[in-house]
Amino acid sequence: MSELDLQDRIPAALWELVKAVNSARYYGLDHPSVGAYARVAYREISGVLAAVPSVTLFIVADRLVIEGRSSPSPAPFIGRFIDLLRNKGIERLSFHRGVTAEELAAFIVRLAVKDRGPVRSSPGIRLGKVEFQGPDGPPPSGPSPVEDGIVEAAGRLGSLGDVELERIREMYEIAERRKRLDVGSLDGIVKRFIGILLADFNPISLLASVKGAHEYTFTHVVNVGILTIVQAKNLGFSGRVLHEIGMASMLHDVGKIFIPDDILSKPGRLSAAERAVIEMHTIKGGRYLLEQEGIPTIAVLAALEHHRKFDGSGYPVLRSGWRPNLISQMISISDVYDALRSVRSYSRAKPRDEILRILADDKGEAYNPRLVGNFLALVAGTI
Ligand SMILES: [Fe+2]
Ligand SMILES: [Fe+2]
Repeated sequence: MSELDLQDRIPAALWELVKAVNSARYYGLDHPSVGAYARVAYREISGVLAAVPSVTLFIVADRLVIEGRSSPSPAPFIGRFIDLLRNKGIERLSFHRGVTAEELAAFIVRLAVKDRGPVRSSPGIRLGKVEFQGPDGPPPSGPSPVEDGIVEAAGRLGSLGDVELERIREMYEIAERRKRLDVGSLDGIVKRFIGILLADFNPISLLASVKGAHEYTFTHVVNVGILTIVQAKNLGFSGRVLHEIGMASMLHDVGKIFIPDDILSKPGRLSAAERAVIEMHTIKGGRYLLEQEGIPTIAVLAALEHHRKFDGSGYPVLRSGWRPNLISQMISISDVYDALRSVRSYSRAKPRDEILRILADDKGEAYNPRLVGNFLALVAGTI
């Protein structure tokens, strides 16, 4: 079964589950429709588990992430399924090969009864919370153990920043001149980053510093890549999806190759017209990536959406009700963190505590609060 089939089959099984739970609620546990839906749900889930040993789902904000993928526009029944899980305090759910029809029936019954009693894990259906590595609140103040480790980690890593920075610069320059993207080179950079970040290096210690105004785009791309891969890894993304997230994060600002340099690095305030030109980097970037071969869809979305806010504001203007993809939401947090920590032609670098306070204050409006909680915990050095 291909990954695409899985992305279809799992929601189909969940839809049957939702129907079984709703029937049990409205017509009673013994109604024949409950058993009928439960049997179809079991058949669908068993079919999926014949192809893969387990399937994991978890909830982040209002999205259901299925095997590391969040649907950009979830079907309404997915929302109902999320509500059913939330009512029982479940944030993470996995089905394992060998799950029995009886286990599934018991699970449906527990979801259907309205009391707030716990739903327990069984060998084939495991339940839990999404494990964010720290409190969903303001970060601890004072020096960060992560930043304290900069010198030590830099010594162990050698010239990671310089090597990757040089490759990213080359990639962007080739893209600018020939308008073709060297996807193979980007793949290599992302692989190397993921390898290092999976070994639990402190992400902040790896961030590159801007050495000159014209360097900003490249260092920024590297840093947003590092910060986003770490966020995603900590949320449980792995394998090919984590790789695609790495690519998306390093391509989020690719549209800037179409923006004149004198506007991009202009010191001082921008006029409204100049701002409008810069804002076009989102649409131009998305359109550009759409035309390139080998680019994951989430990279196209991230280029388009990374300046859209969680509350629907921001740019570019998209149809009303458009919510940025989960990956774009992660990238926008990395994006603002790196922008604020860097010296820019028009602003000083902000200290870490101030940036974290800005993120904590804006969560819920500008940024997804759960993702901000995760990010603050990471940057506060608790990994
Ligand atoms: Fe941007
Ligand atoms: Fe950016």
